[in-house]
Amino acid sequence: MKQHVLSLGLLTAVSVSVMAADAPAPAAAPAPAAAAPAAIVGHAEAGKNKTAMCQGCHGQPGWRTAFPEVYSVPKLGGQNANYILAALKEYKSGERAHSTMQAIAAGLSAQDMADLAAYYAAPKK
Ligand code: HEC
Repeated sequence: MKQHVLSLGLLTAVSVSVMAADAPAPAAAPAPAAAAPAAIVGHAEAGKNKTAMCQGCHGQPGWRTAFPEVYSVPKLGGQNANYILAALKEYKSGERAHSTMQAIAAGLSAQDMADLAAYYAAPKK
């Protein structure tokens, strides 16, 4: 399952780059690639709209999930944004192993991760 998700992601990346290669060259020079990951800023409001798939497990009361069995899930609310971001990146890269969170993180973009981190790090979550 995990591999399936990962290979889907790879396929998408490959087809996107193939399409990009077929497209006519843009008239204006593209912006320098340097503006990439470090420049991503998380927005808590945007993150709030992306928590639907997190709340089932990272629901706040008791920090537990009841399905398929009761097990604890770490609390995210109030956690440091950089910590949350680092954890999500590590799940996505496979550095941090947890099948569920790896599958979830595989579907998140860098912007999604930054938004979610900003949302959960804000006070009163
Ligand atoms: C099916 C249940 C489930 C869902 C859905 C889920 N998580 Fe998790 N999450 C877990 C569990 C269990 C852990 C603990 C894994 C571990 O020990 O590494 C975890 C760990 C984490 C951690 C690391 C927390 C820490 O204290 O180290 C982060 C960050 C996180 N999840 C974010 C998210 C976000 C953001 C979403 C939604 C996009 C999400 N999770 C959806 C179950 C889930």
